Amino acid sequence: MPSPVRTLFVTTALPYANAPFHIGHIMEYVQADIWVRFQRMRGNAVHFVCADDTHGAPIMLQAEKEGISPEELIARVGASHRDDWKRYLISFDTVHSTHSPENTELAQSIYRALAARGLVTTRSIEQFYDPVKGMFLPDRYIKGTCPKCGAKDQYGDACEVCGSTYAPTDLVEPYSTITGARPELRASEHLFFRLSAPEVVSFLKTWTAAPAPGETLQPEVYNKVQEWLGDDGRKLADWDISRDAPYFGIEIPDQPPGSARKYFYVWLDAPIGYLAALKKHFDSGAARAQGEPRSFDEFVADPKVEQFHFIGKDIVYFHTLFWPAMLHFAGRKTPTNVFVHGFITASGEKMSKSRGTGVSPQRYLDLGLDPEWLRYYIAAKLNSHVEDIDFGPDDFVARVNSDLIGKYVNIASRAAPFITRHFGGALATPAESENDRANRLTTAQMDAEAARAHYEARDYGKVLRDAMRIADRINEAFDAAQPWLLAKDPAARDRLQTVCSQALQGFQSLSVMLAPVLPQVASRVARQLFGLGRDFTWKDAWAEPAKIAGFKHLMARVDPKQVEALLGIEADPGNGGRSSAARAAAGATAGASASAGAGAGAAKAAPPIAIDDFAKVELRIARIVAAEAVDGSDKLVKLTLDIGEANPRTVFAGIKGAYAPDALVGRLTPMVANLAPRKMRFGVSEGMVLAASGDGPGVYLLAPDSGAIPGMRVK
Ligand code: MSP
Ligand code: ZN
Repeated sequence: MPSPVRTLFVTTALPYANAPFHIGHIMEYVQADIWVRFQRMRGNAVHFVCADDTHGAPIMLQAEKEGISPEELIARVGASHRDDWKRYLISFDTVHSTHSPENTELAQSIYRALAARGLVTTRSIEQFYDPVKGMFLPDRYIKGTCPKCGAKDQYGDACEVCGSTYAPTDLVEPYSTITGARPELRASEHLFFRLSAPEVVSFLKTWTAAPAPGETLQPEVYNKVQEWLGDDGRKLADWDISRDAPYFGIEIPDQPPGSARKYFYVWLDAPIGYLAALKKHFDSGAARAQGEPRSFDEFVADPKVEQFHFIGKDIVYFHTLFWPAMLHFAGRKTPTNVFVHGFITASGEKMSKSRGTGVSPQRYLDLGLDPEWLRYYIAAKLNSHVEDIDFGPDDFVARVNSDLIGKYVNIASRAAPFITRHFGGALATPAESENDRANRLTTAQMDAEAARAHYEARDYGKVLRDAMRIADRINEAFDAAQPWLLAKDPAARDRLQTVCSQALQGFQSLSVMLAPVLPQVASRVARQLFGLGRDFTWKDAWAEPAKIAGFKHLMARVDPKQVEALLGIEADPGNGGRSSAARAAAGATAGASASAGAGAGAAKAAPPIAIDDFAKVELRIARIVAAEAVDGSDKLVKLTLDIGEANPRTVFAGIKGAYAPDALVGRLTPMVANLAPRKMRFGVSEGMVLAASGDGPGVYLLAPDSGAIPGMRVK
């Protein structure tokens, strides 16, 4: 491979380590991953990194609620993130954590550089303090009565009933949502980054107008930033970068002796996590393995290395103001550009950061849906603007089945069998003139060039629209030649080989163009269908394949029922469907426990029972502290469950098909605690966990809302 034309350092936003991904996260990873894979196919060197964003009050408080340490919480969520990145084929070269020595060192050194330039100042501020909990309260943990309309239980910044905005201190009868206590105002010293300093404002005006030579922010991003900057930057407020203990974060160094410990506000150390992940990538030898000989320090300082951050529209302020200013005034190189995307909603409903509603990406996979379908669908909807997109179930099925399978995959499944059967796999175009052949390959090269420009600009929707038009063209030419008739006519042999070879060359060309979106399919096409012994590079888009090595099934159609199951749409019970209550009950009796495999129970409702009958069942919340596959069983997972007793329980559950054991560790789930122990072939099962299932595939473990802890009774 020739030496790389460009060297790129690319990141996505660092996800908070307090919850599994929602589809909004997946959309961002897919957007960035497509761009990165495209750049690699072009022969550019890419260092693509991410990390978990692990600090801050919400993570600290959530861990406390679950009765675990923040370290345990971020380890558990981190494992689920890593799992999903893999499952959605996101090709990060290194993933790391903001709770790491690299990040501590970088955050402290950047802070020291800013302080040395006189850009950090101390000010005493008054804030609400929870006297029971003994901590200052972030705004989101304060509620009270709206000062304007009197609505109860409103957040500290705005009233959801009348829409007015105010400060937390304006609330009537404020209370802490953590303890319910009435917060009191207390003063404490905070550190501020002087964003309003004239030199900072002037730098930001320059950077936002042209972050790097030839680079501009997206127009809508630029306009927003100008609003924030105001005419002369007078609108910029200094940025409060410190938090008082207790806080889960990085300690601020060099504080006056005797003063209380202070921590960096999570948003200070989060973007520095980009550099920490990159440092890890270098120090671990991964960058060297990718052919980068330099050290981390040399690499990050090189102005020729391009640095891009993919982010969502809600975190633009941090990435276009704080982040470049921090880097610049700490004497470091600033980002080349920031690529901002809109939000994805599911059938119009906004995906919430904290609620995680909508299409669950974990459930999507657990139901057996193909990650490349979702990658394709998301890509088809993305462009270079900050526009929201919507996941529509019908639209999803149509794009996958009609376009991806019906147009693209179809070409190979129709043309390949003729070549295998009649020509022993050899591709050639004896019935085509040299001139036509040259024109065909030139057209392929021009199509690839158009796709290149669209990928570069993150206009994936255009790439896929063009690809589908090309697929239509290939399918039409194939149909017009009627190869099924040619195959019956010995005199038309050359013509048959030509028609099918042309179609397959077009298929290779399309596979190259789609490879950044469909990496697995493209890899199978390159290796299995065309027997290349390697993955595609961009130039293969106008190369002529010489043979096909065999045709294997490339990709299945989506069954609309799977999508209904994903969205929790129930079939009409009158038409043989069952209510979700009946489903859950059937699953529970089928038991994800020792008796798994008894089969889903009858759809008919069971006879009524008295409350006393139900009370005989002792249900308790259990934490899965260990989970391992049972050798010799294709159904069973051996679970070790903590229900607050001296010794953990062992339970065998028939959920192997639905869950990877590792992904279960740390989860809370209800269990039947007084089920008589049962001796099984693999050991004694001391209870049963509960899961829902229906007629189709899929078993779903139940989970309590956050706040439940091991040992709690379920009634
Ligand atoms: N931890 C911060 C980012 C720190 S970067 C130094 C954060 N985390 S997040 O988990 O809330 O969001 C991660 C990314 O997902 C952000 O870029 C955010 O904009 C994006 N999205 C969150 N919800 C989204 C959608 N519904 N749709 C698309 N992207 C969304 O913010
Ligand atoms: Zn109100």
